[in-house]
Parts: sequence; C-alpha cells; structure tokens
Amino acid sequence: MITILAIETSCDDTSAAIVQDDLLLSNITANQKIHKKYGGVVPELASRAHQANIVPVVDTALKEAGVKISDISAIAFTRGPGLLGSLLVGVSFAKGFALANNIPLININHLHGHISALFIKEKGKAHKDPKFPFLTLLVSGGHTQIVLVKSFFKREIIGETIDDAAGEAFDKSAKIMGLPYPGGPLIDKYAKLGNPYAFSFSKPKTGKLDFSFSGLKTAILYFIRDEATKNPDFVKENLYDLCASVQYTIIDILLDKLKNAVQKTGINEIAIAGGVSANSGLRETLAKETEQNNWELHIPEFKYTTDNAAMIAVTAYHKYLKGEFTSQDITANARLKED
Ligand code: KG4
Ligand code: ZN
Repeated sequence: MITILAIETSCDDTSAAIVQDDLLLSNITANQKIHKKYGGVVPELASRAHQANIVPVVDTALKEAGVKISDISAIAFTRGPGLLGSLLVGVSFAKGFALANNIPLININHLHGHISALFIKEKGKAHKDPKFPFLTLLVSGGHTQIVLVKSFFKREIIGETIDDAAGEAFDKSAKIMGLPYPGGPLIDKYAKLGNPYAFSFSKPKTGKLDFSFSGLKTAILYFIRDEATKNPDFVKENLYDLCASVQYTIIDILLDKLKNAVQKTGINEIAIAGGVSANSGLRETLAKETEQNNWELHIPEFKYTTDNAAMIAVTAYHKYLKGEFTSQDITANARLKED
C-alpha cells in the first residue's frame, strides 16, 4: 500500500491531505481570513499565514487519516503556478520532511491538480472517473482554459483567456459592487435572488476557443459609475439583479467557448474544475446543456473545486506509480507551465 502526504500552498489556502493508494483518507484546509479586509490576497501576508498554519494542518491531516509519519511512502507538494512566497512554504516544508524521513519527493503542477480533482475517491462514496479523452473547462482565480485531457499525464490547452481569468471577472465585478473578497461565492449567492436578464453586458469578440473578461469588468465599472451619478443607491437597490446579470454573462461566455470546443473536437465527455466550478449557476447551466447535447458531465465534489491538497495527493499517487520523483534541488516556480 502506498501512503502519500500532499501539501498545497499556492495561494491563500494552506492544505494537507493523505491518500492511501488512490483513496483519500483526509484533507484539511486552513483558509486565510486576513485578506478579506484588503479586498484581495496580499502575498506577504499569505506566506506568513502559511508558515503559521502548515504544521498544525499537516498534524491534523495525519491524525484524521489515522496515519503515522513512519507510514508515509512519499511527500508531494505544489511547485507552481502560484504566488512565489506561498509556494516556497510548501516546497520547503516538503523538502525538509522528505529529508528527515528519508522518503521520496513528488512535485505537482497546481493546474494538473485541479483536473485530478475529478479523480478523487473516498471510502463509501460512489464515484465515476471521466473517460479519456475528455474536455475540461478549467476555471479558477488565476486561470481559464479549455484543456483536452488525453490521458492522466497528457494534456493540451486548446483555449485560454487572453486577459483576466473567470474567477477574476467574478472577484473584480464584486469589488466594483462593493462586495468583499473573494466576491465569486457572494455573487453566486445573490444571483439566486436576482433576474439574470435585468442588465445586459456585451460579450467579447475573441478567437473561437479563447476567452476575454477584461471588457466585461470595464463595462460593469462604467455602467455602475453612470447609474450611480443618477442614483447613489443604485448598487444597493439592484444588487441581486446586478449579480445575476454579471454571473449570467460570465457563464454565457464560458459556455459559448466550451460548445465551440465540443464542436471542434467531437468530444462529448465534459468536465469542469477549479474554484469557479463551485458556481451553482454554472453547474445548473452545464446540467441543462448536458441533457440537451447528450454530454457526459463530470463535476468535482464542491469542496474539491477550490484549492485543496486532496487533488495534489491524487496526482502524486499516479506519479508515484510511474516512479516520477524529484530531488532536493527542486525550486518553486510561480509561472510553472510543464508538469
Ligand atoms: O481554484 P481556486 O480556489 O484558486 C485558484 O487557483 O485561483 O479559485 C478561486 C476563485 C476565486 O476567484 C473565487 O471567487 C472563485 O474561485 N469562486 C467562485 C465560487 N467559489 C469560488 N466563483 C463563482 N462562484 C462561486 N461559487
Ligand atoms: Zn487553484
């Protein structure tokens, strides 16, 4: 039996998980509340919080899994992409842990991790892995891509954002409306109470599979600024409709491109991953499209959509089977592209 401890510290969540073979035993995450009052993640504060959280989070993950340090076969960590100061905490912890316990070290690409969230299995819970090849709409705070996943280790990015990520579009729109960071989950919550057709924002003109969200952000900024000069309470009085309309527009942009990708590749095995895949509007729209278009849809469990170490652990298990380990001279890479 292979037991892996995995660490994820790429942004503002400190997370540790244990898998035994491909079965997840524990996943513990400490969220950093400190960034809320600054309206976004402050890198310096994030790395400091990771330093404080990492040992207790690992300790809890071990206890919850009922695993001793001596049972661990390998330690995995997120190498990038992400915030350098945040990544460094996880990389350094993992290196020290590997050295002290004389076990192999496994480096994981954070984006590969988000896709692997679709393969997380838990005891007593039904699960269906996506079948290769499948298309993943990878939507997070830092990335928005359509990925053609050919096998566990072969991925091709066939569409990408040319500016902001979908999560940024949610968070920046929320900020313009005066909502705290991260605004995505709040827009999701308020959108349920509003009319998605109340306000319309034009869609960007990009290549068939490419996304753009910066125009939407500017459109919302100017629209709200103009309305607020006529009525200072405009946002307050229309918050639910604004949220519903913004969310509708973002989902519409995402779905347009995803459908183009289906058409281009002929693949109807579809998955979503990343923080924005927690969005209930996106999930509902995808469910409808799935029915209409005969897709096979895979969505990670809600808690594995945003950053977590479980997805890193599952990826690491597959790397362990391939014998892909790294050495003590590995470094964090904030702009990592390869695996
Ligand atoms: O994957 P993730 O946790 O971190 C990155 O790797 O970026 O994604 C975080 C992003 C944030 O922009 C957050 O606002 C967004 O995911 N998000 C949501 C929802 N939950 C998280 N966006 C819309 N609706 C949600 N329910
Ligand atoms: Zn992420």
